[in-house]
Amino acid sequence: MKIKPVKTAVIGCGDISHTYLMNLKDTFSIIDLVGCADMVAEKATAQAEKYEIKCMTTEEILNDDEIEIVVNLTYPTSHYEVSKAILEAGKHCYSEKMMCLTMEQADDLMETAKRNNVRFCVAPDTFLGASQQTARYIIDKGLIGQPISVIAYLSRGYHMIKEDKDDAVRKYSVMCEGGGIPYDMGGYYLHQMMNMFGPINSVCGYTRTIKQNRPYLNPRNSKFNDNFFVNTINSMTCSFEFDCGVLGMFAVSSDHMTKETVFKVIGTEGQLELGDPNEFGDSVYITKNGSGKMEFPISHPYKASSRGIGVADMAWGIRTDRPNRLLPEMGYHALEFVKAVETSTKERRFVELKTKFERPVPIYSEYYNGTSAERSLFLY
Ligand SMILES: NC(=O)c1ccc[n+]([C@@H]2O[C@H](COP(=O)([O-])OP(=O)(O)OC[C@H]3O[C@@H](n4cnc5c(N)ncnc54)[C@H](O)[C@@H]3O)[C@@H](O)[C@H]2O)c1
Repeated sequence: MKIKPVKTAVIGCGDISHTYLMNLKDTFSIIDLVGCADMVAEKATAQAEKYEIKCMTTEEILNDDEIEIVVNLTYPTSHYEVSKAILEAGKHCYSEKMMCLTMEQADDLMETAKRNNVRFCVAPDTFLGASQQTARYIIDKGLIGQPISVIAYLSRGYHMIKEDKDDAVRKYSVMCEGGGIPYDMGGYYLHQMMNMFGPINSVCGYTRTIKQNRPYLNPRNSKFNDNFFVNTINSMTCSFEFDCGVLGMFAVSSDHMTKETVFKVIGTEGQLELGDPNEFGDSVYITKNGSGKMEFPISHPYKASSRGIGVADMAWGIRTDRPNRLLPEMGYHALEFVKAVETSTKERRFVELKTKFERPVPIYSEYYNGTSAERSLFLY
């Protein structure tokens, strides 16, 4: 019997909606993408035309009995209200990162999902990509021995982007509450660490807002040289411990001109080096003690940009009655982690994290037959 695709709609037709709409329409057979909405009607109209789906309002999506999954691609300051409405409408919700702005909102969303008996997932889903799953395989097979520590570093320049759009910087997520680089790009690193090592039990560290008042730098912006206010943290350095005993170190800042990333796991018998966890198919290297660095063959599916794979995994979960790989507790834990570093900074102490979760079920490469990547989502 053919499995019925899950009718899915998107709320939020900004920059990242292009990637989602393209992948949800073409990459995953389990998804039947039907419509999109945005509070700026023209944005929804343009995306609906481009991807040949229905232009809808949020209310129309929430009242449509056939739509089962709604993907929340609004910016972080809108995540809570939009996800809450989706869950209260009795629909499964997939939200972009981070879950919301505060732990009180997060508690409320988790409770709302439970009460309405619907699924809730929070991006990023990049840890389901080929490189990240290969790294998980290397850890699980003990190929670098017992993991001792994970070290991640990311620098990039956020202050130059989006300025060509009038007023975009004030609205834009990375300069607003809930959206600085620890919340934004930090999510990719944290989710992959959680995928490899499970929950973190305590953290201490420092957060900063570098240059809280800063001028618009782009002469194409009508507010060129006016100051704007950065309402979020944009640098973070911290140390932490996973329940499994692995130690972690993470430094991230958006006030550099160049993009650089380091992501390594040190084990008793070797080292694992990952690429950018925001990508799906970056090379993965291992160095065994006493040997040189070797590129590890990637045998998992989803090497190409596959954002939306978390939505597809959720849809397969719905149809085959198994849990999502993106457990809502992971999104909750990532938010709790960054908030804990903010608390550690203020109170000069280690902060214990209260949430736990089971490591997500990996995508097994043996279920991938080289042509149908979705087999590996179906065969959980
Ligand atoms: N841009 C990227 O490269 C990128 C990559 C990965 C993830 N993300 C995440 O995706 C989310 C969206 O990012 P973006 O860059 O597309 O932002 P964006 O600002 O370009 O788009 C957000 C859209 O949501 C709409 N919106 C906001 N509140 C709404 C509401 N209450 N109801 C209906 N529509 C509403 C806005 O009008 C806007 O069109 C963020 O959480 C971000 O962290 C972005």
